[in-house]
Amino acid sequence: MTADGRARVLADGNEIPLLGLGVWQVPNGRESVDAVRWALELGYRHIDTAQAYGNEESVGRGLRESGVPREDVFITTKFFPTRKDPVAEAERSLQRLGVDYVDLYVIHWPGGGPTWAWPGMERARDAGFARSIGVSNFSADELRLLLPTATVPPVVDQVQFSPYEYRKALLDACGENGLALEAYSPLGTGRYLASDTVARVAERHGRTPAQVLLRWSIERGIPVIPKSTHRERIAENAQLFDFRLSEQDVAELDALDRTGGTDRALERKWWSS
Ligand code: A2P
Repeated sequence: MTADGRARVLADGNEIPLLGLGVWQVPNGRESVDAVRWALELGYRHIDTAQAYGNEESVGRGLRESGVPREDVFITTKFFPTRKDPVAEAERSLQRLGVDYVDLYVIHWPGGGPTWAWPGMERARDAGFARSIGVSNFSADELRLLLPTATVPPVVDQVQFSPYEYRKALLDACGENGLALEAYSPLGTGRYLASDTVARVAERHGRTPAQVLLRWSIERGIPVIPKSTHRERIAENAQLFDFRLSEQDVAELDALDRTGGTDRALERKWWSS
């Protein structure tokens, strides 16, 4: 962790802010531009997009409209693994984003197997297109297949992670292999905001369910990328560094896990079904 407790130092020495804005399912255009601009105005310094989302152009526009210097923002994009060449696709991402590099470039899912795209990811890093490289939706088994083939190892595995998907064995496997697990859908795409347990914990602290769900990851040093297109919710989701969950809160939240502490990244692989 960094001294201010707001970022995590990755295995390659780069720093990832624990709080980021996710823009999955936000259409290219004004909605994405505004969400990114508001987040940056409200103090976020980390934006997570993907080639598959189709909104990289708007992310770049939001960044420019915010006036926040590019070098102050951690930008992630993801290689769309139905395409062939991670290097060429990274270059296209940079053009759409209007930046010279991304901070993190990850394989979006292990489509076609966990190893084939990695040499291209390493080349994209060597070319200066990405500061750090990693993966997403990789299980512990897929990491074990990839790691021995890597010259530059992945530093992040971005997976669906929340109290309801507390993939303890995958978290441990990431830790043992020098990867930071990063949590997408930390609110369960909104579903977990109605949880009685989360509401009970939130009430104890005078906080909101979203803040409790996000704080649960942050306290473990796990970066989170909640998505919202509403300014007030984007603001709410950033108020995470002025309270602490108790041991009892954490125990109650941990008990929500429905994955059996799995080392898998997903219950269903949508790309191979
Ligand atoms: P919206 O974008 O309309 O604000 P996840 O990050 O797990 O994918 O969850 C995103 C979903 O949760 C979106 O539907 C988003 O709605 C909603 N959401 C995000 N933050 C909040 C919040 N603080 N309160 C209520 N709903 C939220």
